[in-house]
Amino acid sequence: MDAKTIVRPDPDVVARVVARICGDYGERAVTTRAVREHHSHGEGLADAALPDVVVFPRSNEEVAALVRLCHLSRVPVIAFGVGTSLEGHVAALYGGVCIDLSQMNRVLEINAEDLDCRVQAGVTREQLNAELKGTGLFFPIDPGANATIGGMASTRASGTNAVRYGTMRENVMGLTVVTADGRVVTTGGRARKSSAGYDLTRLFVGAEGTLGVITEIQLRLYGVPEAIASAVCQYPDLAGAVNTVIAAMQTGIPVARIELLDDVQMDACIRYSKLEGYRALPTLFFEFHGTEAGVREQSATMRAISDEFGGSEFQWATLAEDRTRLWKARHAAYYATLALKPGTTALATDACVPISRLADCILETKADIEKSGLTVTIVGHVGDGNFHLVVLYEPGDAGQRERADALARAVSMRAIAMGGTCTGEHGIGWHKLDLLAQEHGEAVDLMRSIKRALDPHGIMNPGKTVPS
Ligand code: LAC
Ligand code: ZN
Repeated sequence: MDAKTIVRPDPDVVARVVARICGDYGERAVTTRAVREHHSHGEGLADAALPDVVVFPRSNEEVAALVRLCHLSRVPVIAFGVGTSLEGHVAALYGGVCIDLSQMNRVLEINAEDLDCRVQAGVTREQLNAELKGTGLFFPIDPGANATIGGMASTRASGTNAVRYGTMRENVMGLTVVTADGRVVTTGGRARKSSAGYDLTRLFVGAEGTLGVITEIQLRLYGVPEAIASAVCQYPDLAGAVNTVIAAMQTGIPVARIELLDDVQMDACIRYSKLEGYRALPTLFFEFHGTEAGVREQSATMRAISDEFGGSEFQWATLAEDRTRLWKARHAAYYATLALKPGTTALATDACVPISRLADCILETKADIEKSGLTVTIVGHVGDGNFHLVVLYEPGDAGQRERADALARAVSMRAIAMGGTCTGEHGIGWHKLDLLAQEHGEAVDLMRSIKRALDPHGIMNPGKTVPS
C-alpha cells in the first residue's frame, strides 16, 4: 500500500472521538494494539491497516450514536463482523472507528409459517442454523467460513448452495441500516415481493459498508429437504468435469451444490483433509435436495450427463456424517492449498462467467497457470459459473508476487471479456477497485453519485468498493 495515498483525518479530532467513545463504552471500547490488529484485516492478503479504536455496540441506537459522532467529526467508520472477507474490506485504510457487531448476535424472530426470520448483524450463519434446529427450516447460504449475516449481506455473499437457493441478493428481504449521518432506517419488508419504490435493500446488500452499517437483516428460510444426497465424481481431464457442469445447468437439473476441484486442489484436499479413496484428478462434488424420488431422478440425469464426459462412478455420501466430512473438506480447500507449501502466502481470486463460457474461461486460465510456474489451485461454485484461484507465492519474492498478481488480473479481465464479472462472491474491497471500472465503465460514475448522496463526507469504510 502506498502511504502517500492515505489521508488520515486530523489526529487531534480522532483522539477526541476515541476518548469520548472510551468514556461512553468503558470495556466495550478497546484501543490495545492486539485488538486493533485483529480488526485490521480479513483473511487473505496481509494488507492490515489498523483502526484507532474498536467498539462493541449492543443496539441499533448505540450504532447510530457512534456513527453520528463520527459524522460530526468526519472520522471513518468501518463495520466488522468476524473478519473472513478476502478483498481487504475491513482494513482501516484511513484509521477511524471499527464497529464490531459481534455482540449484536440475537436471532430476533423466526416466523416458521412465513419461512422468514430477522437477525442482528452479528449472528453467524452456523449460529442461525443451530437456532433453527427443530423448526424444520434452514438458511442455505454457505460461503464456507462461519461469517456473520451482516458481513454476508454487506459483501453479497454466496458459496456452495447458491446454485439452488440464490445468493444474499435473493435471500435478504429487508434491512435495518444506520445511515452515514446516524439515522436508523428500515428497508424492504416481509412480503415475498414488492413494487414500492427504490430497492434500497439491494443497494445496501453488497455495498461493503460504504453506504451505511447494516444492523438487522430479514432473511428467507427454506424447509429442510426430505432427502439429501452428496456424491463425488472424478474426471480424466478438466474439460470433462467443466463440460458436465455446463450440460447439467443447461438441462436444468435443480442441483443444490456442484463444486469443482481441479487436480491440484483435489491433491491438496486429499492430503489436508485425509480424504480416502480418491485420486488427484479434476473432481466434482454434487449435492441433491428433494424428495427421495426427486433426488433419485436428479442423480440419474446427472450420471447420464457425467458418463458422456468420461466421469467415474459416483461415490455416494448419504449418511449425514459422511456428507459433513466431504463438505468440511471442501470448505477447507483454501487452507489445504496453503498447506501445500508451508511458509507461502495465498492470493485468492474470484471470477464468474455466463455458464456457456465456463469451459473456455477455466481451460484458458489453467493454461496460464501452467505457464506461470506457480502453485495454484482452482476451486469453485461452478454451477453458477463461479470459480476461484488460490495462488501461492513466497512472501519475500517480488517476482513471484508480480506473477501471482498478473495471473489474478488475467482471470478477471478474461471473465469480464466473456460477459462475466471480476468477482462472483468475494467483492471489490480495495484490491479490485480498478477492475470495477474495467467491468462497469461509465456506470461507476453513477455509483460515485450514489456514494456522495448517501455518504457526503466519505466516512463510511473509505477507500473501498467504488474508486473515488
Ligand atoms: C471458497 C471461498 C474461498 O469457495 O470462497 O472456498
Ligand atoms: Zn467461494
